[in-house]
Amino acid sequence: MLVVCPNPTVDRQVLLGELLPGTVERARENQAFPAGKSVSAARGCLANGASPEVHVLLPRGGSAWYLQTLQDEGMDVTARLIPGVGRESIIVYEDSGRVTVLNGAGARVSAGEWEAFVAAVCDRIPPGGWVICSGSFPPGVGPEALVDLVTRVAKAGGKLALDTGPVWLPAALPARPWLITPNLAEAEAVLSGEADSEPVEVGAAALERAVKAAAALHARGIPEVVVTAGSAGAAWCTDDGSGRLAGLQVEVRNPIGAGDAFMGGLVSALERGEPFAAAVRWGMATACSAIEQWVPGGAVAERVGLHRARLGHA
Ligand SMILES: Nc1ncnc2c1ncn2[C@@H]1O[C@H](COP(=O)(O)OP(=O)(O)OP(=O)(O)O)[C@@H](O)[C@H]1O
Ligand SMILES: [Mg+2]
Repeated sequence: MLVVCPNPTVDRQVLLGELLPGTVERARENQAFPAGKSVSAARGCLANGASPEVHVLLPRGGSAWYLQTLQDEGMDVTARLIPGVGRESIIVYEDSGRVTVLNGAGARVSAGEWEAFVAAVCDRIPPGGWVICSGSFPPGVGPEALVDLVTRVAKAGGKLALDTGPVWLPAALPARPWLITPNLAEAEAVLSGEADSEPVEVGAAALERAVKAAAALHARGIPEVVVTAGSAGAAWCTDDGSGRLAGLQVEVRNPIGAGDAFMGGLVSALERGEPFAAAVRWGMATACSAIEQWVPGGAVAERVGLHRARLGHA
């Protein structure tokens, strides 16, 4: 499988007692990881024994550390370097469990650089091969470029697994990506035509809402849809059927990247030829492992296996 990361970032994690805006505070602990949602998904793939070929559109400033760290993790990563400095995301974790994310904007990408990146990726797609693309797009790349990407992956014979927010997803849907995995807030925002999504309180009704949202998105002509609903679980709807899976109880350390790890586990299982209901279980098991630790999407194979066993037969 290929993994396309158009808008990489460095996750700078800051652990604090309490975030007090407008004050100077000292972190209890801080750490940094190469990230970007597609990279988190690629970590989920690695934890499932897959060998993703990861393509990153990476500003040159800070790129050596970024790439070396991923290679040290065992990732097969190719970068198309562009001018500028890599973007950063500050993520503040408070003792209460509240998480605040400040996403950086990233370097502007020219039309020529974007075209070269997409062309190089499309050249690598084997017939029927999966292509994962998750997250946002850099300044200079508009929704029409995403439509073009969806179209070209399909033309090249690939199956695009797309996970992008409500600003981008509505533009991509008419071009019919093969698989989408929005979270519940994103799915409902897209269906109601809103450009932004508010986090949804995960209550008893969340899974039921995810079932409805998955069906509605599938009805728009998307062959395979999974709507994730945080701790409530996930629901899916495909040409072959639909279903739901309640979430597992896990000790949450870093919930950021759960959806991406889910995507990694899901697509790895589909690539192996597993039925969709089983692949959703692999996705959830991978997400559960990822949120137990700090590295974004950094699921651990042994933990994935344990959570998968908890989820039983499809
Ligand atoms: N608190 C939690 N407890 C148990 N499982 C969770 C929890 N949070 C997430 N998960 C698992 O991860 C999956 C994806 O989570 P979620 O719906 O929050 O994705 P997301 O909002 O796209 O995450 P992100 O954008 O941070 O990657 C869920 O379907 C669930 O299986
Ligand atoms: Mg997500």
